[in-house]
Order: sequence, then structure tokens, then C-alpha cells
Amino acid sequence: MNTFQFINPAKILFGRGQVAKIKDEIPEYGRRILLLYGGGSIKKNGLYDQVTRALSEIPGAHVVELSGVEPNPRLTTVNKGIELIKQNDLDFILAVGGGSVIDCAKAIAVGVHYEGDVWDIVTNKAIPTKAVPIGTVLTISATGSEMNGGSVITNWAENDKRFFVSNHTFPKFSVLDPEITASVPKDQTVYGIVDIMSHVFEQYFHDSSKAPLQERFGESILQTTMEAAPKLIDDLHHFEYREVIMLNGTFALNGILSMGIEADWATHMIEHAVSAVHDIPHGGGLAILFPNWMEFVAAKKPVKVAQLGIRVFGIEAENRKDSDLAAETIRKLREFWSSLGAPSKLSDYGINDSEIDLMAERAMVAETIGNYVPLTKKDVESILRNSI
Ligand code: NZQ
Ligand code: ZN
Repeated sequence: MNTFQFINPAKILFGRGQVAKIKDEIPEYGRRILLLYGGGSIKKNGLYDQVTRALSEIPGAHVVELSGVEPNPRLTTVNKGIELIKQNDLDFILAVGGGSVIDCAKAIAVGVHYEGDVWDIVTNKAIPTKAVPIGTVLTISATGSEMNGGSVITNWAENDKRFFVSNHTFPKFSVLDPEITASVPKDQTVYGIVDIMSHVFEQYFHDSSKAPLQERFGESILQTTMEAAPKLIDDLHHFEYREVIMLNGTFALNGILSMGIEADWATHMIEHAVSAVHDIPHGGGLAILFPNWMEFVAAKKPVKVAQLGIRVFGIEAENRKDSDLAAETIRKLREFWSSLGAPSKLSDYGINDSEIDLMAERAMVAETIGNYVPLTKKDVESILRNSI
């Protein structure tokens, strides 16, 4: 294994009824609260009432709201939040939503303490040294943002979507009540499942054969997700399936799978580039791109794709070549995601090949991207072309 440091200070409050506990958690950090949320799903499912009731029980609490955080949250909204915090002298951010709301909260949190343009931080030109403390109430299982320090922000004016990671932006606490996710519609539920599995893939495809525990953690997240997912899609209100998916989502990207290995992340960079140009849902983009990325890398290095197939998709290895096993793995992955109702081609979102060059350019945050098989811009163009 590579040498590594592991830190994860996020406190998890898991299960039914945990939203009420925010009244005990928040006063440890502040009482002048920015309540941040998205486009209104929390008003429809009753969560807004639960949250505001709990906040009203904090003596001396002062709450300012910012709603309308977009899926694929925008830099403009981050800047609005920074202004609101400064104008109202707020000292805590409560993010109630999915990855988009939580990521927006993280960028606001570091932007308040940075004199320049917060986009410098998002693009890693400046390193944050301080952040406003954040708490979250998670409403959709997907990104893992509730238990990591990462944030992904879109600069729509420049068609750019970038991420930063900081130890200062770990949520102080995250409430994970699976019941809240019962109102997530089918398409978003599927995108979340694809995102969770993709996070495992990104951290599974590396060269080390010396991280067996991390690999087995990843495989168990994949297996339990794949067991629960079809049942959940048939019964979106089933508490226990929601519960399994929620915990899996959080553990797929809280750092444990990356201990001592060099993760890949090329497919995420390509997906972020597609979303930056076409504003499609993150999980939808991954469902299209990941099998095509796997096909591309398996042509050069099939061994890990074959291992995934044997261990997770139950493929019989007997006397078969890795390339053959890899091809079957990719076919089974495509079948599984399609059976849930995930998209399989960029043209499903009306995307044609006219902007392949721009998307590939945006994906190339370095000379090559990814580690399992480092990709050049030409490689990325080829993966995108195969995904149309
Ligand atoms: O805005 P509202 O009205 O709340 O509706 C949202 C939104 O339209 C809806 N939704 C969420 N919870 C719901 C619900 N609808 C009904 N009932 C509920 N309980 O779902 C839609 C999508 O929400 P969003 O927050 O955008 O989804 P997700 O959690 O998938 O977040 C996606 C963003 O996270 C980034 C993605 O790139 C994308 O910008 N990522 C963040 C990561 C991180 N911070 O670690 C890693 C990921 O790989 C990812 O890149
Ligand atoms: Zn993701």
C-alpha cells in the first residue's frame, strides 16, 4: 500500500426521527444559521417543516434562508450564499438536500473566509484555510458529500464544472434518515444508485494488488447495492431498501476505499465535463460513460475488469482469458443499469457529436487524466464518441 493518512470527523446520525436532533447539534457551533436548500422538494415531503420546527427549539436561533440551489450547483448561487452570510453575520450553514445543496454549502463555507473569487478555490488555485461550520440533512443517496470534504461547482458562464477537496469542509454532522429519501422519484433514485456504484469503480480500478481489504469493502458495497437496487426500484417507499442504499452511498465515498491506493476518477472528470456543457444529471452521465470507459481500458488492461466480473457479477472464470471475462463483465453491467431504467447513450439526452472537442477539453484538467490507464485528450474524445 502507499503511505496514507485517514481522517473523517463527520458525525453521522442515522435512522428514523434523527432530524429532531439538529437542535442539539447546531448550538455547539453557532446560532446564526444559513438554511440552504434546493428547488422545493423539502417543502413537498414535509422535511422543511421538520427542520424549521427543530430550529425553532434552539434558544436564540436566527435563521436566514437561501433556496433554489440547482442540481449541478452554480457559482452564482455560491456567491449569493457568501453575501448573505457576510451581510447577516451568520456562523453556521445547515444544508438540507442532496449532493448539490451540500456541495454549494461547502463552497460558501470556504468562500466567506477568502478575499478573492471563490472560483480560485474550486479550481484549486487557492487552498482554503478556514470554513464556516456545516451540518447536513441528506435527502437523496448518491454522492457521499454528507461524509466527505469534496465539493463540485459549475461555472455555467464558462461551461466548466470543477471540484475541490478540503479537510475544512467535512460536515460537522450529517443526518441520514432513509425515510426522507422515500420521496425521491424513480429516475433520481436510479442516478443515485449508479453514482454510488461508480464511486466504488473509481476507487477499485488501480494497479495495486496490495489493498485487499479496501477492494473487499468496495465489492461488498457493490454487492449489497446490487441486491437492494432492483427491489427498491420496484418499491420506492420501502424503508429497508432505502436504508441499505443510504448507508452504501455514504461509505462509497467517505475515504475508506481510497486508503493506500491511487484512485482513477477519469470517468468522473469526463462526466463533469459533459454536465458542464449540457447540464445533465451526474448519475445519468455516469451510466452512459462508465461502461464505455471500461471497454476502452479493458482493451489495454482487462485484468481488473475481469476480477470485478468474477467477484461481483458471479462470472465463471474457468479457462477463460481476461479479455473475454472483461467483455462479459461490461455486458452484465450495462444490462444491470438498463434493467433499472438508466440511460445508455448520450443521445438519450439529445447530445450529439458536435461538442465532443469542447467536452474533452474541459475534462482534461491535466495532461492526462485517470490512473488505471492514463487517458489523453484523444482517448477521451474516443470514449465520448463511443458514448453518443
Ligand atoms: O432541488 P430539489 O427540489 O430538492 O430536488 C432535487 C433535485 O432536483 C431532487 N431531490 C433530492 N432529494 C429529494 C429530491 N426529490 C424528492 N425527494 C427528495 N427527498 O433530486 C434532484 C437531484 O438532487 P442533487 O442534489 O442534484 O443530486 P445528487 O445528490 O446526485 O448531487 C449531484 C451533484 O453532486 C456532485 C455532482 O457532480 C452533482 O453536481 N457530486 C458531488 C460529489 C461530492 N461532493 O463528493 C461526488 C460526486 O461524484 C458528484 O460529482
Ligand atoms: Zn459521482
